[in-house]
Amino acid sequence: MESGKELSGTLALAVFTAVLGSLQYGYSLGVINAPQKVIERHYSRALGVLQENVIGASNVTEEVPHSSVVMYWSLSVAIFSVGGMLSSFLVGFVGDLRGRVKGMLAVNVLAIGAGLLMGLSSLGKPHIMVISGRALMGFYCGLSSGLVPMYVGEIAPVAYRGALGALHQLAIVTGILISQIVGLDFLLGNDTWWPVLLGLSGAPAVLQSLLLPLCPESPRYLYIKLGKEEEARKCLKRFRGECDPSKEMAEMKKEKEEAMKEEKVSIMTLLGSSTYRHQLFVALMMHLSQQFSGINAIFYYSTSIFYDAGVTEPVYATIGVGAINTIFTMVSVMLVDRAGRRTLTLVGLSGMCCCMVAMSISLVYLTSYAWMSYVSVTAIFLFVSFFEIGPGPIPWFIVAELFSQGPRPAAIALAGCCNWTSNFIIGMGFPYVQAVCQSYVFIIFAVLLFGFAVFTYCRVPETKGKTFEEIAAEFQRRRRPAHPMAAVSTELEQLRSASDA
Ligand code: GLC
Repeated sequence: MESGKELSGTLALAVFTAVLGSLQYGYSLGVINAPQKVIERHYSRALGVLQENVIGASNVTEEVPHSSVVMYWSLSVAIFSVGGMLSSFLVGFVGDLRGRVKGMLAVNVLAIGAGLLMGLSSLGKPHIMVISGRALMGFYCGLSSGLVPMYVGEIAPVAYRGALGALHQLAIVTGILISQIVGLDFLLGNDTWWPVLLGLSGAPAVLQSLLLPLCPESPRYLYIKLGKEEEARKCLKRFRGECDPSKEMAEMKKEKEEAMKEEKVSIMTLLGSSTYRHQLFVALMMHLSQQFSGINAIFYYSTSIFYDAGVTEPVYATIGVGAINTIFTMVSVMLVDRAGRRTLTLVGLSGMCCCMVAMSISLVYLTSYAWMSYVSVTAIFLFVSFFEIGPGPIPWFIVAELFSQGPRPAAIALAGCCNWTSNFIIGMGFPYVQAVCQSYVFIIFAVLLFGFAVFTYCRVPETKGKTFEEIAAEFQRRRRPAHPMAAVSTELEQLRSASDA
């Protein structure tokens, strides 16, 4: 590795510009929590069901949301994931149609439209405007959460692929943190400013649209997909600065030759193919482990979890979680190309598993020992830290690493859809499961995390520092049948196809 030389200003600009899409995703994930009560009041007014109930003999008044308001609010939250689930399937199509850069540029129309709908929601029926805006924004985020890692993974030099890939997650968590801070009631999370708070979700798309025309297209897309060798070399030269791109061009050439042997890999072919079965299994399991670790159960409901644990200012504790989240993602960015994806995922999942056990014990004994509240708060902070060390950032970029150019877009689409669907299931299902299991709810996540850690140990290969070709070769080696007779028949088959050719 020619240390540091491969990191040019153009590469930095391209990665920064791309991850503005991830920032937007994070902001949209986090923004809906803080202003819930304020927005519900606006829904009630628009629906003509605003009711103030006087509680007991005291003068304390509390607004109890009407069932229709509860329904519209739940829809406002959930429709975001539905949009993402649907659009994540289109990632391959959009990325391949006109390239990664033009793809990201085109989908910004959705984000800006969504931002306007939400930002202007006080001019129309707020519940309709917010729900349409959130649906559109979810649709945008489903696309950008696939296009960004695809582009960054393709333009990054091998030695920095992990660190640059993890910047997608760093931008997501920064977006979550910003939304938590600006959502405080004395900033934008109040009766006057809430439409601006929601509307701001579209702002990064404006900046991204201005910067994208300055970013070169992915050389891999240009060369392997379109066969434009000269254009690809020019773009690669811009990305690599002082470094000679010939070695990388030669690697791409080999990958292109391999890709030409394969037919176009659609989502359906990928699902049915035995060649990619192992890679696909690993990719989907990594996304499942990210979501079924319970991270969003903590994120979506941390304020009420802190409240139950006796924290007096739960909103600030939630912001603390957002800050820890960001700090540990930075740690991961620094470590991932040295320690490796597999090790960090294993450390992360095992640590999270222990935190979930501690969390369950502390919640069960909370009524007997007051100090248990400290244990549960510490467990939440450590849980989030372990998540960001590995299971948070790695699944997002490892899919682009596990697959070669041909099946990559379809694989990213499938993994994205798996991520969004499981995120939706946790978001919708957690409160119900919690109502049934009460303090024991986190034991379920502990068991799942243990299973995911065992899976990672047994099946996930290390991709650190390897070229796409070397990674594909590793999977091929693993596919080799163990039985000696089966090995003989595979060799015979290979000889036969070689002589046919
Ligand atoms: C990952 C997850 C997302 C989660 C976030 C928390 O990006 O995909 O669902 O909210 O991490 O940091």
